Amino acid sequence: MKRHIELAYLGLEVPDPTSLTAFFGDVIGLLPGEPAGAGEITWRNDGKAHRVIVAPGPANDAVFVGFEAVDAHAYDQTVARLAEAGFVTEEGSDDDRRQRRVRRLARTTSPIGVVVEIVEGLEDATSAYASPLMPGGFLTEGVGFGHVVFATMDFDATHRFLVDGLGLAQSDWLEMEIMAGFELEVHFYHCNERHHTVAVAKAPFELPQKLHHLMVETNDRDDTGAAFDRVWATELGIPNGLGRHDNDGMFSFYVQSPAGFQVEVGHGARVITDDWDDNRCYDQISSWGHQPLRQP
Ligand SMILES: [Fe+2]
Repeated sequence: MKRHIELAYLGLEVPDPTSLTAFFGDVIGLLPGEPAGAGEITWRNDGKAHRVIVAPGPANDAVFVGFEAVDAHAYDQTVARLAEAGFVTEEGSDDDRRQRRVRRLARTTSPIGVVVEIVEGLEDATSAYASPLMPGGFLTEGVGFGHVVFATMDFDATHRFLVDGLGLAQSDWLEMEIMAGFELEVHFYHCNERHHTVAVAKAPFELPQKLHHLMVETNDRDDTGAAFDRVWATELGIPNGLGRHDNDGMFSFYVQSPAGFQVEVGHGARVITDDWDDNRCYDQISSWGHQPLRQP
């Protein structure tokens, strides 16, 4: 599978970044990342300097997403492709590069309203990822740190941005009536073996948060189960208990973070192959499970 970019990091802005510390650290099983900008707290799920950057501010949402190019050529190609598609990027400053711990950085604003940063050379942390909460670690090698799912009213423009601009390919899509007269439509996009690195839901109206969820994938199925037990022991909302998605086959659950957006912890999704020819419509989110379990 030819790769050109992968999910590097997600930037969140919440009024108080410490409000997510117990959630990311003690419940999900992320480790503190390298020191960042003033008031920021960072988290990681592998040996990279940071994967989630939580900054103080009023947005209470995702505010930027970083995609790391696999090499200098992929970086140049992605920046050029974005410009050709009408999404001109601006080169980051020395300060930007230092803060994001990358060699090169270019940014543009996506139709979703979230800033997208193309980067090269995301630094390693000073130590490998090792946590008793997640003995098997997370699957990130060659596939980025997880996936992100957004809701937007600019569905078609976002499709053009992701495919013509970023160079992602659509994996498949979902269309289903979730209640009388209310249609859910979600498109899934890949840029490497991970079934989707980005998915986009068509929002019927402006939602309070653009970010629906962030997904991290465990190497060991039991680590997903143990994470579910940790969530169960809290009072956090569980919008979807354990289940298996129909399209990517992932065994997972969803927990609502204290900031509102959700985190999916999962294992064992199927992978995209060079000869992927399964770009088709699904009419159910899950083949089993994912029942709504608990309100916060
Ligand atoms: Fe997901």
